Amino acid sequence: MSELNTDAFWMPFTPNRSYKAAPRIVERAEGIYLFEKSGRKIIDATAGLWCSNAGHCRSEIAQAIQQQAMKLDYSSIFNFGHELGFEYSERLVKHTPEGINRVFFGNSGSEAVESALKIALQYQRARGKGSRTMFIGREKGYHGVNFGGISVGGIAPNYQSFGQPVKANHMRHTLDIERNAFSKGLPEHGVELAEDLERLVAFHGADQIAAVIVEPFSGAGGVVLPPKGYLQRLREICDKHDLLLIFDEVISGWGRTGSPFASQEFGVTPDMITSAKGITNAAVPLGAVFVSDKIYNTVMDAAAEGTVEFFHGYTYSAHPVACAAGMATLDIYEREGLLTRAAGDIGKHWENALHSLADMDNVIDVRNYGLVGAIELRAPEHLKGKFGAKASALAWEAGVMARGIGDALCMSPPLIIEAHEIDEIVGKLREVITTLA
Ligand SMILES: Cc1ncc(COP(=O)(O)O)c(C=O)c1O
Repeated sequence: MSELNTDAFWMPFTPNRSYKAAPRIVERAEGIYLFEKSGRKIIDATAGLWCSNAGHCRSEIAQAIQQQAMKLDYSSIFNFGHELGFEYSERLVKHTPEGINRVFFGNSGSEAVESALKIALQYQRARGKGSRTMFIGREKGYHGVNFGGISVGGIAPNYQSFGQPVKANHMRHTLDIERNAFSKGLPEHGVELAEDLERLVAFHGADQIAAVIVEPFSGAGGVVLPPKGYLQRLREICDKHDLLLIFDEVISGWGRTGSPFASQEFGVTPDMITSAKGITNAAVPLGAVFVSDKIYNTVMDAAAEGTVEFFHGYTYSAHPVACAAGMATLDIYEREGLLTRAAGDIGKHWENALHSLADMDNVIDVRNYGLVGAIELRAPEHLKGKFGAKASALAWEAGVMARGIGDALCMSPPLIIEAHEIDEIVGKLREVITTLA
């Protein structure tokens, strides 16, 4: 076979030139494993990009995709519908927190975020508060790559080249290694950081702010967990100033924390939840915003009968093939108990296994919750902020896919993972971290 030509494909979030000098190609996947062409097997400790929650290449999902593509591959979703879109929506909202019973579909996490921000603006106008047009996000927050998402996101390089097209300000992040290093589960210290929202409300004025958007725990920001009581306090401050609260659960949703959504796990109900990734087990792109009845009813009631209430939507909103994949994914999640599995013994095993690395000199923090975790490494001065990428490259060579973020190795294994497989990941990482020392 001729050698692979890598010229034409401009790769996303990748240093193209160095990647193309030494491409890493995944040929196939199965369960918790990725395979290179040579047959070399790599444990996917990141479930793809925090998304293949039920493990790779589940035949049930593949069959549902194929059958749907043969029955109804596509039809317009503007002014027409298909039963599957309605049936799937009803099934989805059985898993969302009480009072959040409506769903608006897009194709990705980024589109879910843009949709949520626009719904927030539409809601504020609908109730006569059209001056509320800005958003509050948080440092280290990641909300995708579209213009709204980069504006509310708090990862500097993601918007430095593009400006901040949507009006936004940011609360402080909650990573505090000095006080919270080696926390098991939610960190003890930092509830007071929620008061930063009060500071921003005082600065901008509540009558300017449409919504606050945060990930319950930051994923792409390096697995930063909310301090105990922090999310509750954000909810209280939002209620006090009549601000909407959006939880971006693109990563934290679908069983990652041990509940269907982190909202339920942490006992805080937002007004909207964004979702994607695990919603279809990543087999087909799909994004969704789950919306409270209060918001939906307000937007409906404000528009004259027979008019479009919300001028927004995508050609592929509720794409039949994505809905079919999502239905089959829910079948698996429900049947195998995956939406709560991380709260049981396997989550405890994950916690203990990751924390067993705390005895290593160059491990300065281990953080975990459910089936997500990060190992923070002591980086040499010249590699500070970039050491995770080096560690991730070595882990790949050792047979583990782990994500390098800053100086941390971040992981979110498929929710089907077994204890001995966790031990294998951690055993390999111990070797990698020893080499890095
Ligand atoms: C919290 C969060 N929101 C939004 C997104 C964007 O999702 P997508 O890459 O599907 O657009 C991501 C992706 O990692 C995410 O982690």
